[in-house]
Amino acid sequence: MSSPSKIRKAVIPVAGFGTRVLPATKSIPKELLTVVDRPLIQYVVDEAREAGIEHIVFVTGRGKGAIEDYFDHQVELESALQAKNKTAIYNETMQSVLPAGGCSFTRQQQPLGLGHAIWCARDIVGDEPFAVLLPDVIVKGEKGCLKQMVDKYEAGANIIAVEEVPHEDVNKYGIIAPKGDATGSKIEMSGMVEKPDVDKAPSNLSIMGRYILQPEVFGILANTGKGAGGEIQLTDAMAELMNDQPFFAVTYEGESHDCGSKLGFVKANIAFAMGRDEFASDLKDWIKSYV
Ligand code: G1P
Repeated sequence: MSSPSKIRKAVIPVAGFGTRVLPATKSIPKELLTVVDRPLIQYVVDEAREAGIEHIVFVTGRGKGAIEDYFDHQVELESALQAKNKTAIYNETMQSVLPAGGCSFTRQQQPLGLGHAIWCARDIVGDEPFAVLLPDVIVKGEKGCLKQMVDKYEAGANIIAVEEVPHEDVNKYGIIAPKGDATGSKIEMSGMVEKPDVDKAPSNLSIMGRYILQPEVFGILANTGKGAGGEIQLTDAMAELMNDQPFFAVTYEGESHDCGSKLGFVKANIAFAMGRDEFASDLKDWIKSYV
């Protein structure tokens, strides 16, 4: 097993239909819907870059080509902004251009599940540990969630970020079984289960969408059968990998927003706008008068 200590690559699965936010996603990838003034996916890519990620593997699908364009140069636009000396917006726009050779796009041709999507990145990731960021979830905080995980990473281990969810919602997530009483920010686990029935869940600690995994997970995913919802689940492959490798869950500082749902999207827009000096005061006054 190769286990360098640096996490250089991240996989971001972006093939989903975005059915929970239809009709907005009928012809626009969900990942390009905006939170304040930038697409959802930009927040996730920025989180990856803050954590030191050098290469991002996007697992895309049909109808997602606009994501690839978003992370490339837009030569005419850039020239026009420069010619008009619109330096601030030019610089902001350039932040979305990923370095040459610093990203790859591969397609998940059929919606067979998150585990299958990650497996589609196997050849590009190769034999090194890697991060996974699910782009429905964006995290607001001082330090990015993935950076906090990288800081806790030990060579050869697997880490997943978890957070508490209301007990009645455990059937919407992957849920971990902690060993012991799950105190502290680094939690030992005895297992994990994808979308358990509410009365069978081993805890209310949900897998929130950030992972650091060892490449051996790919070999397991190749043989993982359908699980919850009839899909190939990453959680099932991780549960198997736990038999052979160290695995722990971490809590993190920050506020997560699930933009996979309409209400979550609206809340994310308000929360991130409130975090911006140019909007906070006016928005606060408006919300007070509106409600
Ligand atoms: C996926 C994962 C699940 C995780 C969730 C977080 O589920 O399979 O373990 O808790 O993301 O958002 P999905 O939301 O794709 O059904």
